[in-house]
Amino acid sequence: MNLLITGGCGFLGTNLVGHLASHRPEYHLTVFDLLTYAGAKSNIKSLISKGSVAFVQGDICYPDQLDKVLEYGIDMVINLAAETHVDRSILDPGDFVRSNVFGVQVLLDCCRKKSVPLMHISTDEIYGPAPKGVSFREDAAFSPSSPYAASKASADLLILAAVRTYGQEAMIIRPVNNLGPYQYPEKLIPLFVDRLMRGLPVPVYGDGKQTRYWLYVDDFCSAVELAIEGFSKGECHNLSSQTEISNIDLTRQLIEIIGCKQELIRHVDDRPGHDRRYAIDGSKFVNKFGWLPKFELDRALRNTVKWYQDNPGWLKSRKTKEFEQYFDRQYGSL
Ligand code: TYD
Repeated sequence: MNLLITGGCGFLGTNLVGHLASHRPEYHLTVFDLLTYAGAKSNIKSLISKGSVAFVQGDICYPDQLDKVLEYGIDMVINLAAETHVDRSILDPGDFVRSNVFGVQVLLDCCRKKSVPLMHISTDEIYGPAPKGVSFREDAAFSPSSPYAASKASADLLILAAVRTYGQEAMIIRPVNNLGPYQYPEKLIPLFVDRLMRGLPVPVYGDGKQTRYWLYVDDFCSAVELAIEGFSKGECHNLSSQTEISNIDLTRQLIEIIGCKQELIRHVDDRPGHDRRYAIDGSKFVNKFGWLPKFELDRALRNTVKWYQDNPGWLKSRKTKEFEQYFDRQYGSL
């Protein structure tokens, strides 16, 4: 299997590339990544130098760049190239439309020309907020709240349209929130872990009672591994976990694991359009692939905290001037 992983130097991409390199050594892996602020080639450096992974720097918005890399006889593309941070999408939506909508259309067109199947990684956020007791199935209506979620919903629509119009080989996976190593420190968990480790206050939006489901990134990777083998054209699959938790309880748990003071919690202005709850029904994927997440939240959080504690150099290298500017713009003088 000759796999092209677009966005393979970001959080999910890095973990997926590492997972496949060790669990599927027979695969030939090529990473295609633009290396924007959230992607780092150094994340996969050891795999590149061992020859387990080939790397091409490129942008999914440019068909000539994709055409060139698809010439290598690629059997499947897994698309993880995306702008992913909701707060940034509220500040500057344009980049999200470019990468997550236009880029996906270009990728679809290039894959179709070469008859290469596309597995696209979407998000539970496309369904919008779920009322208490409700979890959305794959055929639920889209009701995105943020520009990020709207851009991801748009991509899903373009992909489903290509399946119907051209019979294109494409499938979609919609996971809940992921946690684990290599996540850029703008997201709740790495941001809070980094600050708590340094004894700094953490910004909880609003009352912190918004809830999310969390999936450890290793479980996400094992699910994608199964989906590669059982690729099913035109299918959408939710990927959920058993663990729903409020942001405030999650923050308290992180504080306990790290061993610092609960007084470091600061309630700050809520995110505009903040969805109170995401919840999806993941039974379709579980029934089809016999997959179940192996990591309970407590173990996932402890592994994640330990990884950031053991890799201070990684966190430091990601906190560039650009990060500092974003942080000041988003949080002011916290
Ligand atoms: P995030 O990691 O940005 O993921 P998403 O918005 O895609 O779910 O945020 C997870 C939750 O944490 C979300 O409800 C927003 C909240 N949050 C905070 O309360 N404070 C923060 O500083 C951040 C980044 C997120």
